[in-house]
Parts: sequence; structure tokens; C-alpha cells
Amino acid sequence: MSLRDRKVIVTGGPTREWIDPVRYISNASSGKMGAALADAAHERSAETVFIHGPVDGSIIAGRPYRTVAVESTEDLLDAVMGELRGGAVLIMAAAPADYRPAERSGLKIKKKSDELRIDLVKNPDILKTVASRKAADPSLEGIFVVGFAAETHDVEAYALTKLKEKDLDMICLNDVAKEGAGFSTDTNIVVVFTRGGGRLDFPLMTKKELAAGILDKIEDELGTRNQ
Ligand code: PMT
Repeated sequence: MSLRDRKVIVTGGPTREWIDPVRYISNASSGKMGAALADAAHERSAETVFIHGPVDGSIIAGRPYRTVAVESTEDLLDAVMGELRGGAVLIMAAAPADYRPAERSGLKIKKKSDELRIDLVKNPDILKTVASRKAADPSLEGIFVVGFAAETHDVEAYALTKLKEKDLDMICLNDVAKEGAGFSTDTNIVVVFTRGGGRLDFPLMTKKELAAGILDKIEDELGTRNQ
């Protein structure tokens, strides 16, 4: 089933959690996977929005669809919730920070002792929040939710657990320990698992090629759902 009449919301890039005015917690996500998915979605969908964390300007420059910049995981949650509507497709390729400092110091933390401990608190899980909102809000009927799993070990078991716990329609597992897969590269290696028990293996390919393959799979799944 075509994405023509559906809004596609893609997230990409890292989030940033400030410790003090000059330091933050983040990760190596470049936004390339998310941007490739948003490019591919724009070719098929009437409305695409790309919500991204702090990424290099080249990732979003001249994109022919709406882009929304966010910084922290809480900002990303608010932006995703603000864009969601019934029938939308949400593709969460972003790598949100799972924890943030319990307190953000207003002043630069000075180098005094040999050790420094920073207390972290858990950030909201965006996909779990979407799942509970979807269950409670009839206006979100028909949304199709795709997660990613970035794993380094026991990769399939963790991906399948996330598929279930986050109530996803599909999960794209990238084993980021593999050469050419995962963060910052122009290529990726992904295995897709679906809610119904399906599996599709994509070999090493560019993120652009992979994005087209993932969108083909989403369209197939939407077609099956509507039969
Ligand atoms: O940006 P690139 O450099 O191109 O790299 C692409 C990528 C490796 C970042 C991407 O392919 C990818 O794997 N994105 C997901 C990274 C991640 O956060 O994985 P996770 O296994 O920790 O999270 C599982 C899912 O939950 C993800 O869809 C994530 O977006 C989502 N999540 C995570 C944390 C959180 N607080 N809320 C979430 O919804």
C-alpha cells in the first residue's frame, strides 16, 4: 500500500543533554540514516517531516520537506507528539540519549578533585510513550511505528525484545559492531523484524539504498494490514 496519503515522520541524529554551559552527553549519530529515510519518504508521501537532533548543516541543507530541530530527548518527545496524527508513519532512526544529568550546572564545573561524579536520571522512552498514547487516544488510530535497534551483542534477542516492549510494527536492527554498519557511516547493514514474525535481511548497502528498501517493506506491511 502506497504512502501517498500518509504523513511520514522521521527522526534522526543524536540528542544532547547539557551538564554545564560547555559540556554535554551525546552520541555519534550523524543523522545520515534519518535523512536518507526522510529523502525516500518525501518521494512517496504527500507530507514528510524530519525531526533531528544537533547534526551537521549538510544533513538538512536544501531538503525539500519540513525539518524540525531539537536538542534534548525531552524536546524530541514533545516534537514527535506534536507531529503525530492518526494514520501517520513514525520512523524513529534517532539515537536519543537515554539519560540526562539530574542537574544542569549554570556555571562551568571547575576542575578540582581527581574524580567527578555526575548523577544521571532516565529520559522518557519516546516509543513507549507513543505506544501508551496510541492505546489511549482513538484519534491516533492506524499509526504505523518503526523503531531502530543499535546493538553490539545478543543483537537479535535485544531487537525482538524492543519490538515487543515498545509495541512496534517493525524494528530495524543494526549490529553497530559490524564494519560498515551503524553510526556515522554512509552504509549500513540491517535486519528488519515485523510484528507478525517476518524477517528481512539487508546486506551492506548505502543508507540511501537501505532507506528505499525499508520504505518498500513498510508499504508491504501496510498493504498486508489492510487486506
Ligand atoms: O545517524 P547515523 O550516524 O546515520 O546512525 C544511524 C543510527 C545507528 C543512529 C540508526 O540506524 C539507529 O540505530 N538509530 C537508533 C539508535 C538507538 O537509540 O537505538 P536504541 O536501541 O537505543 O533504541 C531503540 C529505539 O528506541 C530507537 O528507535 C530509538 O530511536 C528509540 N528510543 C530510544 C531512546 C529513548 N529514550 N526513546 C526512544 O524512543
